[in-house]
Order: sequence, then C-alpha cells, then structure tokens
Amino acid sequence: PMPPQFKATLPIPQQLKPTRQTGDTDYYEIVQSAATAEILPGLKTPIWGYNGTFPGPTIVQNPNRNVVVTHHNNLPVPTVVHLHGGAVPHDSDGYPTDFVLPAASYGDFSTMPAMGDMPAMSDPDAVTSRQTRDYSYPEQPRAATLWYHDHRMDFTGASVYRGLAGFHIAHDAEEQALPLPQGARDVPLMIADRAFAADGSFLYPALDPTMRSTPGVDKDSGNGVMGDVILVNGAPWPVFQVDTARYRFRILNASNARTYQLALDDSSGFVQIGTDQGLLAAPQTLDSIAISPAQRFDVVIDFSKHKVGDQITLTNQLGDGSTAVVMRFQVARTATDTSSVPATLSKVEAITPGSSAQARTMKFHRAGTDWEINGRIFDPSYSEADVRGGSTEVWTVTSDFHHPFHVHNCAMQVVSRDGQAPGPYDQGFKDTVFLNKGEKVQIAIRFSDYKGRYVFHCHNLEHEDMGMMANFTIN
Ligand code: C2O
Ligand code: CU
Repeated sequence: PMPPQFKATLPIPQQLKPTRQTGDTDYYEIVQSAATAEILPGLKTPIWGYNGTFPGPTIVQNPNRNVVVTHHNNLPVPTVVHLHGGAVPHDSDGYPTDFVLPAASYGDFSTMPAMGDMPAMSDPDAVTSRQTRDYSYPEQPRAATLWYHDHRMDFTGASVYRGLAGFHIAHDAEEQALPLPQGARDVPLMIADRAFAADGSFLYPALDPTMRSTPGVDKDSGNGVMGDVILVNGAPWPVFQVDTARYRFRILNASNARTYQLALDDSSGFVQIGTDQGLLAAPQTLDSIAISPAQRFDVVIDFSKHKVGDQITLTNQLGDGSTAVVMRFQVARTATDTSSVPATLSKVEAITPGSSAQARTMKFHRAGTDWEINGRIFDPSYSEADVRGGSTEVWTVTSDFHHPFHVHNCAMQVVSRDGQAPGPYDQGFKDTVFLNKGEKVQIAIRFSDYKGRYVFHCHNLEHEDMGMMANFTIN
C-alpha cells in the first residue's frame, strides 16, 4: 500500500532522560523490544525498536560527560549495539559477534550459523551477556551527529530494517558557543526507505524471516534492499511546519542501500555546516547533497525569505516516482530569529600522514554472490590490518560497484579521488566515504587510541551481511 504524501506530521524522536547521574557520567537504559507502529494510516507495522520505537530515542552526550547505556534485549534474537562514528573502547563498540543474547527461552544460539568458517560463538574475544549489557561511551572527541544501530553478524540489514536505529548527538563547548539554530530549530532527520506488505508489515526479503538461523536475502536483492516508501523519522513523506527562521537539520541516511541526491524545490539550496564527525571548518553552500547510507550532513536552511503558507519540498534527484520526494516544509508562522551561521565554525586540522605512514590497499569487489574485501568475506578470526593506536595511515580503496566505506573508531579525510582533489561532499571529518563504481579513493585515517579489534565494512547493509567486512586491530 502507498500512503499519501505530505499528510503525516514529522515525528521528533524522544530525547532519552538519564536514569541516574554521577559527577562525570550519565546513565541511560534502553529496552530492545518488539512493538507496533502506525506508519501507514490505519495499519499496524510490527517493528523491533529501542524502547519499542522507530527511530529509537535520541541520546544526547553533553560536553565533558561520559555516557553509559544499559541495553536490555527482549527480542527473540541476539543483538549488538554499535555507536556509529563514535570513539569507543573495543568492548563497547558492538563487534558483530559480541552479542547481547536473548532470554534463555528463545534458545542458546550457540550453534547459530555464521558466514565464514567460524561459528560466531566460538570467537574467543567475544564478551557475551544474556539479556543485559552496559555500553560505555566516554566523552567524544568532537560535537557530532552520531547514531546507534544493530550490528549483529549476518543480520544487520534485517535488524536495522525492522527499526533498530537511533540518534546519539554529542555536543562540545566549541559548538555551543556558536550562534547556530538551537532547541526546537535543531532537528534530526533520519531518512530511510522501506517497502510494505498489504497488511502494513515491512517487506524485507530475508531468507529466514525469523532472523534466527539462515542469513541472507533473496537472490534479486544482492545489490541491497530498497523500498518505495521514503520515511523521515519513521513517517512517510512527512510535513514539518516551520517558522520564518533558520533551522539546523541533522540529516542521516539510515537506509540499508539507497543513496540520495537531496535538493529543495525552491532551488535555494543548503548551507552545510557539518558532516559525519562534526562541524566543518567553514560553511559551504550546496545546491544538492549526495548522501550515501550511514553518512550525515548537518545543514542550515533559512526559511526567513519565505512567507507563511509557502511549501518547500525536499526532493531526491536520484529517485523516480515515489522515491523522488522525501518530505515537505510548510512555513506556518512568522518569528524572530537571532541565529546566524558564522564564517568560521570549527577547527578542522588536516589529518596529515607523515611520509613514513603505513599505506594499505583495500579492494572492494564482488565474487559470485559474495561481496569481498581483498579477496575474502568476513572472517572474525582474520585481521586485515594491524594498526598503531593514535597513528595515521593512508588507505587506497578501490571498488567495482558503489559502496559506502565505513571504518570504526577513527576519523577520516579524503585525500583524493582518482587523483583529483576531494569534492564538496568529502569535506570535514568523515567516518563513511562513498566509493563510486570503478573509483580509486585515497583516504587518510587517524585511528583512536582505544586498543583491540574493530571492523571496517561496506555500509550497504546487505553487502555487509554478505561478507563485505573485515577486522582491523589497534595495538
Ligand atoms: Cu554504522 Cu559498522 O556501522
Ligand atoms: Cu557495498
């Protein structure tokens, strides 16, 4: 069923309240549970949600504060929570086999088949817990629009599609001193496409809809799963009523596989102020924004040049038919606005690899129905790269298809694309770099100091589940 466009009101995810606070740490609790959501008018969609909601509640990490989130798994399958873009100790990073197991009544999952030769549970480093686990997120290096989502080996695509994704917004003093739009005019937008069955349920072509044994999607979905309904914060093509004022939108593409080219139909364009890992050095004006799965673009849109009653539609120039539009802004009220976008936003020092920096080559490619990195599918027992904590490396990444390239626990800067200077969508600190088909991208990567085993992978979630992921180890 096709819901009407521009009828739903844009939902704003709830900001989670700490359950307790100490001198330097805020403690939160989340219950991962099955629920239903009314996404299509009059129909109930079964979801899996953080606190039973999709998107999950927003976690705000304030300056100089550590965050600990206790996750309770009330779902019938193992889960894994990853803070995407965060600098996070290894045992809280959500390694793909580092499960929070379901209640014993759902089975022990010790024989769950895994891609690669190794049964996931025999992974020696995996710290598993049944039903409850504390994830620790120390103070983050920069203010940034991060997000958290499920990362279970072989099943990330199916789990995120069911709703396991939410925002985690880190602030810092530098950002708070700026006159940018704030409060109700600082709005997260999680864009995700979905397909629906006639009864309102999500249509995900899983080989095993229980997501308890056989991983994978049907043959026709090998390039990634896309839907014909565009959701923003969980509502189809919603409307957001705005004042005649500037707004900051934190745009996240939480789609499994769809890349968007976002534009405004009044052709006023965007002022981009931030990206994956925080503010840019200076704002830049963009007519449109190419955003691949997992990327974030923080933009300011100024509605003050509009009059009450105007409607501005956010479009997707890469879509057709129902996927060519995303949502609508409706100018509802005149208002005063003291915000502005300063010419200098942040200090973004260049990640400069010294001449002795380690260089590596990563080849992203298809092999039959598998998606591989350097000739292998994901194998928890194999480390593709051993890197030094705090060091900078230069990785040259090639690909035979388009892939969003994501590395955990680091900050990245694009050095070049096919020998050319990085483009407008490559500015700032990235954690997800879009690889165009056939392209060779050089990326400087500064790894965090946290030691241990982490992963890098394609963030087309079906590619990831089909093996396009590898370990690296920080020593
Ligand atoms: Cu957003 Cu390893 O993932
Ligand atoms: Cu891919």
